[in-house]
Amino acid sequence: QETQVDPAKLAAARAAVALVETGMKLGLGTGSTASIMVRELAARVRAEGLALRCAATSQATADLAASLGLRVESLDEIGWLDLTIDGADEVDADLHLIKGGGGAHLREKIVAAASNRMVVIADPGKMVEQLGAFPLPVEVLAFGFETTRVLIRRALEALELGECDVLQRLRGSEPWITDEGNLILDLHLGCIPDPVLLARALAAIPGVVEHGLFLGMCSLAIIGREDGTVVELS
Ligand code: A5P
Repeated sequence: QETQVDPAKLAAARAAVALVETGMKLGLGTGSTASIMVRELAARVRAEGLALRCAATSQATADLAASLGLRVESLDEIGWLDLTIDGADEVDADLHLIKGGGGAHLREKIVAAASNRMVVIADPGKMVEQLGAFPLPVEVLAFGFETTRVLIRRALEALELGECDVLQRLRGSEPWITDEGNLILDLHLGCIPDPVLLARALAAIPGVVEHGLFLGMCSLAIIGREDGTVVELS
């Protein structure tokens, strides 16, 4: 496992784990970069005996963290968090994000909202001038799924975002089911000229549980590089 770790992701993860201090209440993100971070965090806890309480953004992360000996509790048991460290699918210069490539953006957004500070860790490929090349994940209720899809299409038309596919995410040939038992639509937009307008429009649709635009939530992005150095954006 260790030998196959992406050096850029590892550099970002290590720099973020260096921000952790004993006594902290932490949010743990989801995805391959966040998984590296969880391993690095567990290594620090073992080496230094840090006392931490952790809330996970997915069942997968909760399982990984617990298997490595981290103390994982529910968000409501812990309450407010000092710091959440998570990955992202796209990061722009304003630190607006697209998340949800791993299908966990609902819990990720709740955990980020419950944190004094959200730090994003990423490899350079995640940095973009404009969000939207990565399909925007939208978690929707199973009830009225097709109605919600139509309402999303209408909202995209009203925003003049052009022809774009609104595709149900699958796992193999079956619908992708989130940790909360919902479905996911991926919006293939190409570019998102005004993320704030789009976020508002999506949030107003009844069957939409949560979209993957994280606006004004991230306070620091740590971009790792292949040579093991990092660039910090805040
Ligand atoms: C999970 O739902 C996502 O928000 C992830 O944070 C995102 O997909 C980043 O994953 P990687 O670190 O694997 O690129």
